Amino acid sequence: MIPRHLTVVGIPGNRRLTLFAAAARAAGLPEPTVLPWRDLLRGDVRPAPGTLVRVDSPGEDEEVDRLLRGPALGVGYAPTRVEGTAAWYRGVTGALDRLAAAVRATPGAELLGDPAEIAAMFDKRATHRILTAARVPVPAALDQSAGPLLGWADLRERLAAAGLRRVFVKPAHASSASGVLALEFGPHGRLQATTSVELTAGVLHNSLRVRRYRDEREVAAIVDRLAPDGLQVERWIPKAAQHGRAADLRVVVVAGRATHAVVRTSRSPMTNLHLGGARGDLGAAVAAAGPRWPELLAVCERAAACFPHSPMVGVDLLPATGWQRFHVGEVNAFGDLLPGLTGLPGGPAEGLDTHQAQVAALLRRTTTTAPRNDAP
Ligand SMILES: Nc1ncnc2c1ncn2[C@@H]1O[C@H](COP(=O)(O)OP(=O)(O)O)[C@@H](O)[C@H]1O
Ligand SMILES: [Mg+2]
Repeated sequence: MIPRHLTVVGIPGNRRLTLFAAAARAAGLPEPTVLPWRDLLRGDVRPAPGTLVRVDSPGEDEEVDRLLRGPALGVGYAPTRVEGTAAWYRGVTGALDRLAAAVRATPGAELLGDPAEIAAMFDKRATHRILTAARVPVPAALDQSAGPLLGWADLRERLAAAGLRRVFVKPAHASSASGVLALEFGPHGRLQATTSVELTAGVLHNSLRVRRYRDEREVAAIVDRLAPDGLQVERWIPKAAQHGRAADLRVVVVAGRATHAVVRTSRSPMTNLHLGGARGDLGAAVAAAGPRWPELLAVCERAAACFPHSPMVGVDLLPATGWQRFHVGEVNAFGDLLPGLTGLPGGPAEGLDTHQAQVAALLRRTTTTAPRNDAP
């Protein structure tokens, strides 16, 4: 095949772009052109004719974050602030729609991925609805069809009515566990929230330390500040464990197939690596799941199939205690930053890292299909 010109929308110089560019070069493809998210957000999008456009994460860049959340947070802006995710979501999805329009208007150019699917993955309520409709197992969620949660008093009331005593409360557009609370109601009105949120002077900062709040006034203040950005509330799945640490899995699905898996374990209910989570033992997880391991991968592939135009997704799989039942916690549009992790033995990406696997899939695809807008 003729190597096509590639454009990557991302943060110039970050690890994601470096890893993808290395994988492209190794496969004999030309060096991808970078379209900075910063430019896209400022309305400057001019894809080259004939280019294939890959969208990468807008995350982990202060300038981009400030463009997205700055107007909502005003002088209180700091990269650690938790609030403002609804504005972040509107900014990202609006930019992706403009990108798609610019690509459609450029002869021979093609967008990998689909703005509507990315938008759905960036909204945990939408993801949950889509997975539920496809009968993919998900934790039972608090029904918000009658109206979004207004704050702590409303949440407390609705949880009591639903008989839910142990839940995860997550900002609908959260990532990296920012603003996520594991909430449990004990006997005698006791309450405990486990979270990395730090409540300081009435505003929320994301910290690297997971702490516990037991004072209802503090929990109320946190939830009241999170609610305006939208919340997803779901049953807390008691997760499987490795060496006494809670465990879940990140499974990467490339072109419909589960290619990579990593176990994440933590002493806290949040397994995200920056919060003290660590890679666990995949062999032990495979052994513990036993004959159910293929089913676990199939669940991830079914979750990915709900986003058929996405070339890659990262599925967070929550195995219940005992490793025999599984729930999909979320689906990440940019869940492939797992440097050095090679594909599952015997799978389609054995020996390849997540970026090499995506380039290989891209090459298979461009040799067999013509770009959509090259059609007569
Ligand atoms: N319903 C749940 N039950 C148990 N653990 C959960 C649940 N939802 C999320 N978690 C845990 O919380 C962490 C963050 O949740 P996730 O939905 O992946 O949000 P984020 O987008 O912030 O990564 C993960 O470690 C996950 O295992
Ligand atoms: Mg996650």
